[in-house]
Amino acid sequence: MLTLTSFADLRAARRSLTGSLGLVPTMGYLHRGHLSLVERARAENAHVAVSIFVNPTQFGPNEDLSRYPRDLTHDLELLAGYHVDLVWAPTPEELYPAGFQTWVSVEQVSAPLEGKQRPGHFRGVATVVAKLFNAFTPDRAYFGQKDAQQVVVIRRLARDLNFPLEIVTCPIVREPDGLALSSRNVYLNAEERQAATVLSRALRAAEAAFAAGERDADVLRAMVGSALAQEPLAREEYVSAADPETLAELETVGPGGALLSLAVRVGKTRLIDNVVLGAP
Ligand code: PAJ
Repeated sequence: MLTLTSFADLRAARRSLTGSLGLVPTMGYLHRGHLSLVERARAENAHVAVSIFVNPTQFGPNEDLSRYPRDLTHDLELLAGYHVDLVWAPTPEELYPAGFQTWVSVEQVSAPLEGKQRPGHFRGVATVVAKLFNAFTPDRAYFGQKDAQQVVVIRRLARDLNFPLEIVTCPIVREPDGLALSSRNVYLNAEERQAATVLSRALRAAEAAFAAGERDADVLRAMVGSALAQEPLAREEYVSAADPETLAELETVGPGGALLSLAVRVGKTRLIDNVVLGAP
């Protein structure tokens, strides 16, 4: 497994790879969610590359950039067990040298939900992902449904900027009690960890109502909201039932289905989760 940090070394290594390349972009502190993407990439490509970079431009001024968990040594140990060909772990200066001023902004689908709560977040994501696509020229790139809006933004980015690659979306990996795996789960104390199960429970309640025939989006959103309200340690940021492609809020769930998503603060930790209703 080659571990590289500069663009120049990455480009040289990329040139020597023949056969298809699958890329898994990450911010490190890897867990089974990330590793499920690596496994999928391994199954579908001749070569697999993983990037590990805590991208400063996608963090707001009051967010957790400085305390975001990092453990490169452990990440590399994990990836060695998955037959990854190439790991790229650049420094912030390598990606954003002095004078950097070119940004990729995916306008409409970045605006609501996470984009509204975290201004500038998707500009940072889209910019770094475009740079990764240019640097790796992968045939396929793998993203988790955990960050559902991120997938919508990146699909649009790839189409609009003509990146010749396939975007592959992988299902959410969860703990046995339903909590979606996230690097940020380490911030939770024992009590908060228990309270955090309310996210998936609230989504499951609405999912059950949808399965029983409920199609009124207000009713579905309200069900999620009232389930969240039952957990005293949880504070709702938003609950959304939106068109899975445009992310516009729905009145009724039609044949295109709905992305039911939420953001919640449990203590000081911000958690997100989602489920797709009536996936086409
Ligand atoms: P990060 O949060 O490290 O996540 C890397 C990838 O792992 C993302 O595609 C994310 O959706 C996926 N992932 C995280 N938790 C998951 C889970 N429980 N199940 C399935 N997949 C999961 O997302 C980012 O990094 C960054 O925004 C990045 C795309 C790397 C750009 O900086």
